[in-house]
Formats: sequence, C-alpha cells, structure tokens
Amino acid sequence: MKIAISGKGGVGKSTLAGTLALLLAEQGRRVVAVDADPVANLAVALGLSAAQQAGIVPIAEQVALIEERTGAKVQQYGQMFRLNPQVSDITETYATLHRGVALLVLGAVPRGGGGCACPESILIRALVTDLVLFREEALVLDMEAGVEHLGRGTARGVDTMVIVVEPGQRSLDCARRVVRMCGELGIRDLCFVANKVTGPEDEAFIREALPAGDLLGCIPFTESIRQADRSGTAVLDVCPPEVRARFETILRQLEKRQPP
Ligand SMILES: Nc1ncnc2c1ncn2[C@@H]1O[C@H](COP(=O)(O)OP(=O)(O)O)[C@@H](O)[C@H]1O
Ligand SMILES: [Mg+2]
Repeated sequence: MKIAISGKGGVGKSTLAGTLALLLAEQGRRVVAVDADPVANLAVALGLSAAQQAGIVPIAEQVALIEERTGAKVQQYGQMFRLNPQVSDITETYATLHRGVALLVLGAVPRGGGGCACPESILIRALVTDLVLFREEALVLDMEAGVEHLGRGTARGVDTMVIVVEPGQRSLDCARRVVRMCGELGIRDLCFVANKVTGPEDEAFIREALPAGDLLGCIPFTESIRQADRSGTAVLDVCPPEVRARFETILRQLEKRQPP
C-alpha cells in the first residue's frame, strides 16, 4: 500500500501519517514513512525522542551523499550530473527506525529560478520514485500542501491520495486544488479524512462538501491529540480507545480501496 497525505497546513497531515504508519507497523508490515514537507514534523507525530530527532539529518542536507550519488557539487551551477542516481540502499542506511517504522526526512530543496535541476532535488526525486514504484514496503508519504512536486510518473505509483480536511472553507478550497492537481498527475484514487471535527454540525458541513463514499472517516478534535503534540508522544499512546478506533477505521477503509 502506497499512500500520500495532503491537505492545507495544520489540518493534521502529520498526525494522520504518523498514526497510520504506526498502525501498519503494528500489523507487522514493513513501513517506510517519508516526511516530504520542508517543515518536517512527522518525527514528532511518530513519537521519536528529542535525541532521536536531533540525530536526523534530512536527505537534502546530506551533502556527501548527494555529491557521491549525483556526481555533482551542491550549490554550484551549470554542472553535468547523473539524472539516475543510485538510491536503492538509501532507506536502509539513512532512515531512522522507530517502532517498526523507517522514517526518511527529505528536507527542503531550493526552489524557484533554476527550476528543479539541482543535485539535491534530483536525488530526492529518484529516491521517492524508487520508493513509490519499486519497493515492496507499505509507504506513507507526508506531503506539503500541494502535490505538484510529485513527478507525473511517480504519482501514478501512489495507490491512494488521502486529503485531510477540517471543517472550514479554506481547507476545502485547498482540498479542491489538490483534487485538480491529482487529476493532472494521474493519481487515480482520491479520498478524504475529516479532522478536528467538534460535533455533528462540523461533520454535516464536511459531508455536504465531499463526494459520498470518499470520506474514510472523521477524527474528533480532542485534547489528547493536542496533548500528544505538546508532550512529543505518539497519539496512539495517549488517546482514548474511541479515538484509536477512528484511526483503525480509516486504515481499514484505505485497505479496502487497495488493488488486490
Ligand atoms: N484531532 C485533533 N485534535 C486536536 N488537535 C489536533 C488534531 N489533529 C491535529 N491536531 C493538532 O494540530 C496541529 C497540526 O497538526 P499536524 O498534524 O502537524 O498538521 P499538518 O501536518 O497538516 O501541518 C498539531 O499541534 C496537532 O497536535
Ligand atoms: Mg506536517
């Protein structure tokens, strides 16, 4: 199962990504969780200790690795470099293992003027493509708000795009943009998770705005999830059983959508 998680900033993408990754690992699956948001916080959602977090160097900052694999110097322009760097061993060597989840933090890649042809982005793109298209593990991609940075070919390897929404117009507008981009990229299966739902009115607001059948589930706004973030623990370790059950339902719905 290869899922990517998108949505507006702050809606709960990392909370959902981290929790689904831990639930998949509990089932005994080999899981790779990729933090593809330049504002990385998936490590917190997975409940990594402060010391473990401090030890993580994002791939985009692994200068020696980038230079070795692409044959180019970081931050020099007009160079030739390998467009197909070897990446198949990067998960084993550079992921942080935690409760059965291998976490890869991609980091921020310089954008703008020069397009994406810098060695950092070449390596990261090759890595994501390798994970999405060629690896057997369950993959959970925690994305930044847009999806345009997923290459067209790579996007087709994503089984399901999960768009997290909260009961508000801005988050729904962002969701609609993501839906359009997914169409352009060729991502076939799209679905939604409602988060920070405070009651039946919120739920009705969201159900009205989204196609019936594509809402995998609703997660209530709860003190335990806020608390988990503040104390740096995984949501599953502190939430009441009914909240865990919500996440489990969402995972079951996701599994049902996967091709056999
Ligand atoms: N259901 C919820 N109830 C209460 N707080 C939540 C809930 N979901 C997420 N949060 C809090 O909202 C903040 C943003 O969540 P996060 O998962 O980091 O969002 P994103 O990755 O989309 O930016 C965090 O402080 C998180 O603990
Ligand atoms: Mg996040």
